[in-house]
Amino acid sequence: MAFLKNNKFLILGAGNMGTSFIKALLQNKISASKIFILEKRISPELKKIRLKKKIKILKVVSKLPKNFRPDIVLLAVKPNQLDSAVNEELVNIISDSLIISIIAGKKIRELKKITRNKNNTVRAMTNTPVSLGMGTSILYFDKGIKKKYKNLAREFLALVGQVNEAKNESAIDSFTAIYGSGPAYIYLMIESLIKISSKAGHKNSENMVIQTFLGSLLLLMSGNSNAKTLRENVTSKGGTTQAALSILNSHNGMPKLLSRAINKARKRSIELSSN
Ligand SMILES: NC(=O)c1ccc[n+]([C@@H]2O[C@H](COP(=O)([O-])OP(=O)(O)OC[C@H]3O[C@@H](n4cnc5c(N)ncnc54)[C@H](OP(=O)(O)O)[C@@H]3O)[C@@H](O)[C@H]2O)c1
Repeated sequence: MAFLKNNKFLILGAGNMGTSFIKALLQNKISASKIFILEKRISPELKKIRLKKKIKILKVVSKLPKNFRPDIVLLAVKPNQLDSAVNEELVNIISDSLIISIIAGKKIRELKKITRNKNNTVRAMTNTPVSLGMGTSILYFDKGIKKKYKNLAREFLALVGQVNEAKNESAIDSFTAIYGSGPAYIYLMIESLIKISSKAGHKNSENMVIQTFLGSLLLLMSGNSNAKTLRENVTSKGGTTQAALSILNSHNGMPKLLSRAINKARKRSIELSSN
């Protein structure tokens, strides 16, 4: 927090993602007077935040205070909204800011062209648990970006969870496929187990499945053993788990299926970035 404390922020687009960052800034004791939001459609959640914290939500750039120059700008509109959102007026305001984009598929070259901020534009990607401060994010720094801005970007993303760095921009595509879409893979597994459990006649299936996930994760996070060891611990020779794993781990089983699925997602990410 040392770097962020004295900065002014501009959040462009306060939908699901933008709002998570706004909440995280406020929770980390950044003064509401330093947070400006550009958002066309003010959600009930944003209204609630404004009521409590008096953040400034503006619909158009021209309503920003004269001479307002944000230190950090978060680009969090949808990919197809970026061009029109970053208009001439905004380009002038953010010319010296650190600009962090979490917009899927927008490459650093295109971002720099749109923002016309060549030195301090950073590309990032993250996932939905950011709303709880439990996101997994990745940052990509183009050549030439100053250390000071790198540290600011790291600290900003750390507000919403764990931060990692990509050595090259193409790593964002596999990150998106594994971690951006990742929550959906986990929810699909949860949904499937709930269905199977309910069909087998268990009451309270949803709670039981969630508890099994949570318990298994906490066990893993207790740090005594890694996932492989914990899996082996449940798998006695000739037992029930081994019977199930012989299918899940078979030639076309879960590792192969996941790998194929993620590869398809990665290819889709590449396609979307080149449109
Ligand atoms: N959801 C994810 O898992 C995820 C993960 C990582 C990154 N992202 C990226 O994060 C970005 C935001 O996603 P999201 O789910 O938060 O989308 P979202 O809920 O649609 O939020 C975007 C918000 O920006 C507003 N907006 C659009 N144009 C504007 C303008 N010119 N000025 C001010 N506000 C404007 C939109 O208003 P309207 O609705 O009225 O257009 C909307 O409320 C996307 O680019 C996405 O690729 C998403």
